[in-house]
Amino acid sequence: MNLRSGRLKGKMTSDAASFTSSMEFDKRIFLADIKCNVAHTTMLKEQGIIPSENADKIVEALHDLESEGIDALNLDPSVEDIHMALENYVTARIGERAGFMHTGKSRNDQVATDLRLVLKEELDEIKMDLLDFIGTILDIASENTETIMVGYTHLQHAQPTTFAHHILAYANELRRDYERLVDAYKRVDMCPLGAAAMTTTSFPIDRERTMELLGFSRLMENSIDAVSSRDFMAETIFALSMLASNLSKICEELILWSTYEFGMVEISNEYSSTSSIMPQKKNPDVAEIGRAKTGVLYGELVAVMSILKALPHSYNRDLQEVTPHLWNSVDTARSMLNITHHMLASIEFNAERGRELANSNFAAATELADLMVKEKNMPFRVAHQIVGRTVTEAIEKGIKPAEIDSDFLDEVSMEIHSKPLGIDDELVKRALDPYEIVKTRRAIGGSSPEAVEEVIKRLRNFLKEEGFN
Ligand code: ARG
Repeated sequence: MNLRSGRLKGKMTSDAASFTSSMEFDKRIFLADIKCNVAHTTMLKEQGIIPSENADKIVEALHDLESEGIDALNLDPSVEDIHMALENYVTARIGERAGFMHTGKSRNDQVATDLRLVLKEELDEIKMDLLDFIGTILDIASENTETIMVGYTHLQHAQPTTFAHHILAYANELRRDYERLVDAYKRVDMCPLGAAAMTTTSFPIDRERTMELLGFSRLMENSIDAVSSRDFMAETIFALSMLASNLSKICEELILWSTYEFGMVEISNEYSSTSSIMPQKKNPDVAEIGRAKTGVLYGELVAVMSILKALPHSYNRDLQEVTPHLWNSVDTARSMLNITHHMLASIEFNAERGRELANSNFAAATELADLMVKEKNMPFRVAHQIVGRTVTEAIEKGIKPAEIDSDFLDEVSMEIHSKPLGIDDELVKRALDPYEIVKTRRAIGGSSPEAVEEVIKRLRNFLKEEGFN
């Protein structure tokens, strides 16, 4: 049955039909649309709204379509969208009786329902992928609780830490990304079906029944809201954008750390490219593309927010234009997540270089100042000044951090306060040793192996609670 045979005469131009058709990205909701139609038809039958045998025929045809697959449909843009293609299929199978399936239903509530059904599945998969990645990070962290490196603030050497401590930051960031997706899921998991075009219908439908048949947790209670709202998409894309942002930080560090200058990691060949002209090159292209995809996701978020802005209630066809941005966000974020996961799992951390950097540029300065506070009961600000001057003079005189001793500290202290410091040389040496420093950070969240083990344990518990082993 041609949708246009009533109100309209003739066809749309083929340009206009292609311009307005959602067929290409509707393919993604093919199975969900069958499910939605089966649930709606079943409810119509149970409520005695349509004849039982017609309902059975419709459901039978829908199941046939499911086994035949999407190729059984005519997906020409002139058909408009998948909902019409599906109804056309059922009509071809059982004749005019197929027309009963659209009783008390509109494509407006139907598409919103389908999109939510598919997005729920996608989110479940992304959530599992995220837990999987966190698990990998915990495995790497467990093996590196004593792998020294320097930590940075302002991208300048700051304090010694360990590779495990550093990558647990990734794990905790990803845990929040996971939680954001769990939260977004709650609002995806709401059923608009039964809203019909915008006011429900005078047929005695049972919305709770279709909600239950489709496995939703809640109803979209206002029928105008039900067909007008795509905030569940915008929110999901934000959560995915934030995830991408966190992943891009990992990509960025792999790019930076694999430079000759840092020399801290080696990315495996599987995740590297070379140059067509410079034979020596090993380039981190995969991480670079990962970093760039984040921008693509932000673009999708802005596109969606812009489309949604100031739309009048209720359904407007503009809403259709949001959908491809949703799927592109889902696909981009998911591929980025899994690539970053496997790339990180493939790297070699250069422990020797990590130690060298931690020893080479006064990353121990904070601990040295803390030592003065502890040993000499000196206000931290005074200690800060003495150590700051010590570093400046060491740099000027070409003295290496490890060569700083109690005599040198005494000299600097004399200059500033006209009295020696008098701290035991043994204690000074210990305060300058990155590993000793790392071990002192025992507060929860700190860099000591025990504190790191504790966080690993907590994150493993979290994975278990979320059903991931
Ligand atoms: N393809 C449409 C969408 O994605 C389905 C709903 C169309 N409704 C309409 N009245 N034309 O939003």
